[in-house]
Order: sequence, then structure tokens, then C-alpha cells
Amino acid sequence: MSFVDWLVFFQEKGQNYRSLFDLSGAGMPIRTIIEPFRIKSVEPIRWTTREQREQLLRAAYYNLFLLPAGDVLIDLLTDSGTGAMSTHQWAAVMEGDESYAGSLSFVRFRDSIHDIFGYKHVIPAHQGRAAERILFSCMCKKGDVVPNNTHFDTTRANVEFVGAEAVDLPCAEAKQPSINRPFKGNMHVGALEELIARVGRERVPLVMLTITNNSGGGQPVSMENARAVSDVCRKHRIPLYFDACRFAENSYFIKLREPGFADRRPKSIAQEMFQLGDGCTMSAKKDGMANIGGFLCTNDDLLAQQERNLLILTEGYPTYGGLAGRDLEAIAVGVEEALDEDYLRYRIASTGYLGNHIAEHGVPIVQPPGGHAIYLDARAFLPHIPADQFPGVALANELYLEGGIRSVEIGTLMFGPNAKLDLVRLAIPRRVYTQSHIDYVIEVILEVWNRREQIRGMRLTYEAPFLRHFTARLEPVVGRPSNNTVIEKTATRG
Ligand code: F0G
Repeated sequence: MSFVDWLVFFQEKGQNYRSLFDLSGAGMPIRTIIEPFRIKSVEPIRWTTREQREQLLRAAYYNLFLLPAGDVLIDLLTDSGTGAMSTHQWAAVMEGDESYAGSLSFVRFRDSIHDIFGYKHVIPAHQGRAAERILFSCMCKKGDVVPNNTHFDTTRANVEFVGAEAVDLPCAEAKQPSINRPFKGNMHVGALEELIARVGRERVPLVMLTITNNSGGGQPVSMENARAVSDVCRKHRIPLYFDACRFAENSYFIKLREPGFADRRPKSIAQEMFQLGDGCTMSAKKDGMANIGGFLCTNDDLLAQQERNLLILTEGYPTYGGLAGRDLEAIAVGVEEALDEDYLRYRIASTGYLGNHIAEHGVPIVQPPGGHAIYLDARAFLPHIPADQFPGVALANELYLEGGIRSVEIGTLMFGPNAKLDLVRLAIPRRVYTQSHIDYVIEVILEVWNRREQIRGMRLTYEAPFLRHFTARLEPVVGRPSNNTVIEKTATRG
């Protein structure tokens, strides 16, 4: 089915799909959506045989993090720092001013960010988690509580590192992977009110809103929800901060799905949303369209001073924050490019095309497709593999074996036995893969889907004491899957 057929097919399916993915509402005629760029520099990717991949998997202890990247054909491990820069960004890189203090590149970086985000202070950092560490170190103390629609792992870890409690307050629909709603990234506003009433306003130093909600399936937050959260924060005089990693994708979803925004430019939607808050943290490795970098923003003068002091201690002087001048230039151009409508139209359509196409064949995914990634529901995909045999790892390994595709498990291996879901995330790097690459990914997933009964579970042979998914070693379970496999812990071996 070509992209045009697919679009017509989904438009015929009725209002549900139409309202979520109808690009004609955004001034888009029904034609093939092409990559809005041409390719000036190419990076070869390497084919391997199935036998080679079997060997490579064995050598990597069935953990895709341990694979050499050169042996991966299509790498969907993350959309973070893996994007392609534009000619304008590469040209700007040559303008990088590497002065230690007062760099001209910082001025361009600050002005470009200020134009979109609107906050008074812009502080560079080497990536998102550095911005988070500085923000929470300055704002939180032991015993505090930080609500978020859903904390990303590093955000949660940085809140907990200062002794505060990270509380996820996703909306009710977010807990049901298969239901199709436009803004499953929303925060549960009633739960926020209840939390503040229960713990007391003094223990909540800030509220965070993650746009889009990565850990919740890459789902967007509506303007209406951001406004409601902002109203609660203002009422209680609690600052609201955005985790803005994928702010441009979130803005485009609002344009497509929220009444009253169809004629607005993504940039003005982003500006309106940021006005609802008091600052943000940002990983420029996502919608900054850069390979490294981040920043934090605030309107609070005193806080900014404390943040800069901490920055100098661990990241660098406030006009470079651990980045080279050339990185600041790439980000200054990148944040603008991320808001380009042609780019966003292609980006969202391409991810939706992948998700809807496999879903149409029965493959269980988190619905609807997110902005930066598709999440396969591994428990529903492989119902014969119990959670303690890591269905997500088994499925991710199978996608590599079948077609050289690397994805990432977000489930029992990553979060431990209490994981609520076992998902496999296929994150799409920005401007890197073409429609034919995506078609190839669809073919591979469907081939694995067709022989899903033959896939076996996995067992751990080594795990580190924390963040075990990065270095874990596994092996296939031999024989029939059972519910009582003992997970071997041999932390001293290997
Ligand atoms: N917040 C969100 C929502 C993220 O998705 C990430 C990173 C961060 C913060 C931290 O940013 O990596 O620059 O330090 N997400 C990546 C991913 C790693 O694969 O989803 P960072």
C-alpha cells in the first residue's frame, strides 16, 4: 500500500482517524508526503547476513546496547542526538566563536531560544540531564515532591538524587495502550490538585510538564491541559517548568488535533504554551536538531544566579555551559528548523505511517502513534512469553535478527519486575531515514509478527546493581516457555 493509498484508507475509516491524522486540514493535499530535503552527504549502512546477526547477537549477550553500531542496518534505539544536521546548521558550525567568555555564538544561541521560549534567562548545558540536575539541585530539597505528567528516567533520577519524590500524574487514558485519544500525554489535573492538598503547597517547589510525554508513548499535551495545569500552579503560586525536549512535535500535534489551532504556525503555538510556564529544561538532542547540547531557562533572577553558580562549578562558564561555540550555533539554527511546517508534516506523517500500517495488520502498538517513536506492546505481541522472560527483549532481538533493526526494550529489563508494560520502542532519528527505510521496517515487523509463536523468552545471566538494562547479559530460554523460570543473578560473573 503506497502512502497515498494509506492516507485515503485511513481517511475513509472515519472521523476517529481523520481527526488524528488528517493532514489536509493543515493545508495538505492528498499526495505522497516526501522528505522535505534532498541529500547532500550520505552515510553508508552495512548489510549483514542472518548467520552473522545470530553470531553478533550471541557475542552481545542478546543485549542490543552491546552491539557495535556498525553492525546495525537501521538504528531506532533513540531519536536523541542521532538526527542529521542541515546545510544551514553546518554553515553555522563554521561561525562558531570558541571564546571562553562572551562568545558571539552564545548571543546567537540565547536570542534564538529567547525568541521561541520567551524566558528571561537562557543557560546552556551539555545535555538535558545536566539542565535537570542544576534545576533540581537549586529548587528541591529532601522531602519535597515534584509532580510531572510522566518523568523521563533521568528526570526522575535527578529529582530523587536531591532527596525529593518524583510523582507521575498521567491522565486516565494514558494507562490504556490500545485506546486512541488525541492527547494521551496530558496531566491529570484533578490528581495534581489532590496531591498539592495532601502534601501541602510548601513541599511542592515546582510542577513539571513533559512535552511530548516520552515515557507515556511520545503522546502530546494539549494547550487546554497546559492551561489548566498552569492555572492550578498560579493559584498555589507554584512555578511550572516544561521538559521541552520535543516541543516542536507537541506544537504540531496541537495544530492537527486541537480545535482553534489549525491555522496557527507551530512557532506561535510553542510561544503560547511556554508563556504558561516559568521556565524549562531542554535536551537539544531532540527538537534542538543537534547531536549534543541542552539548556535551562527561567524567569526567576535569583534562581538564574544560583543556577549559573552551579553551572560554573560543573559544566562551564555561563556563555558556553559545557558546549563548544559551534554546538551553540547548531542549536541556534536547529530550534528554528524544528518548527518548520514542511519538516513537521513529514516527521509526524512518517511516524504515523509506520504505526498505523503495522496496527492495520493487527500488530499491537501504543495508540495513537507518537511523534518521535512507535511503541510495540510486547506482552500482547508475545502472549506466550511471561513478563519474567522479558518479552520486550525477545521481540527487540527478533527484529534485529530478522532485519538488522535496533530498537529498545522499555519494560521488565529496564524497570524490574514491577514494570507495568513491556514495550519495544522504535524511535525515529530526525531527517535520517527515508520513506523506503520505513517501508523496510514495516516489512520486517510484519515478518516477525507472522511467526511470533516461534519466538522464545530470555533469561538473565548477569545484571548490574543499577540501570541494569545497559549492561545486562541474557540468553534464550531453551524448551517450552514456563512461568516459573528462576532469574539467575550472577553479578560477579563476567
Ligand atoms: N527528558 C526527556 C523527555 C527525554 O526524553 C530525555 C532523553 C531527557 C529528558 C534527557 O535528555 O538525554 O539530553 O540528557 N531521552 C533520550 C531517549 C535519551 O532516548 O528518549 P538528555
